[in-house]
Amino acid sequence: MRILVTGGTGFIGSHTVVRLIENGIDVTVFDNLYNSKITVLDKIEKITGVRPDFRLCDMTDRDSLEIIFKEAHFDAVIHFAGYKAVGESVEKPLMYYDNNITGTLNLLELMEKYNVKNLIFSSSATVYGIPDKCPIEESAPLFCLNPYGRTKLMIEEILRDLCIADKDFSAVLLRYFNPVGCHPSGLIAENPNGIPNNLMPRIIQAAKGEIPELKVFGDDYDTRDGTCIRDYIHVVDLADGHVAAVDYVIKNKGSIAVNLGTGNGFTVLELIKTFERVNGVKVPYSIAPRREGDSMESFADTRLAKKVFGWETKLSVEDMCRDAWKGALSYE
Ligand code: WQD
Repeated sequence: MRILVTGGTGFIGSHTVVRLIENGIDVTVFDNLYNSKITVLDKIEKITGVRPDFRLCDMTDRDSLEIIFKEAHFDAVIHFAGYKAVGESVEKPLMYYDNNITGTLNLLELMEKYNVKNLIFSSSATVYGIPDKCPIEESAPLFCLNPYGRTKLMIEEILRDLCIADKDFSAVLLRYFNPVGCHPSGLIAENPNGIPNNLMPRIIQAAKGEIPELKVFGDDYDTRDGTCIRDYIHVVDLADGHVAAVDYVIKNKGSIAVNLGTGNGFTVLELIKTFERVNGVKVPYSIAPRREGDSMESFADTRLAKKVFGWETKLSVEDMCRDAWKGALSYE
């Protein structure tokens, strides 16, 4: 079996490539390296003993993307490629719509042309906007607060429409909650180009002294300690969720959206305290005003993933904190 992984040198993509290879699947990766480094391929080879086939390619360049489909047939595509910084998407919406939407349309048109009819799409819990209640079921209302989230929702709608038009097409839309941690080897980790927005990379920067302190965005929410609750999921569990989805996407038709989360919620302060306890470090922080657009609480209803994929998370928030710190100290 051969799978094309778009954005396969990125944080979640590279962890998924490792697990696909370890499950005996041949992998072709393409990436434009906007938010990742080519050296990730060396790390994947070091972990698995296999260097995935790689193409430097931008999915908005349809001609170069078509060469990939001419060179090999794929049993499925796992589609990670896309810009994903919420703040940047607000400043540069056209860049996000062009890259994420146009790029995905190029991919889908070529999949149709070359009779590749199975797609696993990297969606996000961000499509739930500010959820009415938790745990969040896949049938919850969908609403997006920023251009990044809207590209995810638009691509979900495109895939639902494509599966109605083409009865042979199969699309699994995986809605990630909050991916954190890294491979236990520390060889591949979250290493965004530029200033990170997410909580765990900022905790690490504060613990390393790269920033004077972490800003905790609000402690006046109606939660057990006043800070926001999120469903943090270990990136290795997330990668396994994709491997579990491969069997399903090939054996079924139509579209289905599935949450990938732990079903457990932790507050910002709880994550900070867990990180300090597990790693024996201090994380200097101060309370700052709330961040625009943040929901008070978000964690997954995980029953559907268990039912359709037979998948559930195995790793704890302690594992996430331990591996994230190990990756931060060993990653170069
Ligand atoms: C988590 C919590 C912040 C930074 C985002 C995207 C979502 C998905 C996951 C891609 C919140 C608080 C954060 C900081 C803080 N990405 N925080 N200080 O916002 O839940 O989701 O990443 O799909 O689409 O929206 O994650 O890590 O930014 O924030 O207090 O310096 O940590 O307020 O409560 P979020 P996050």
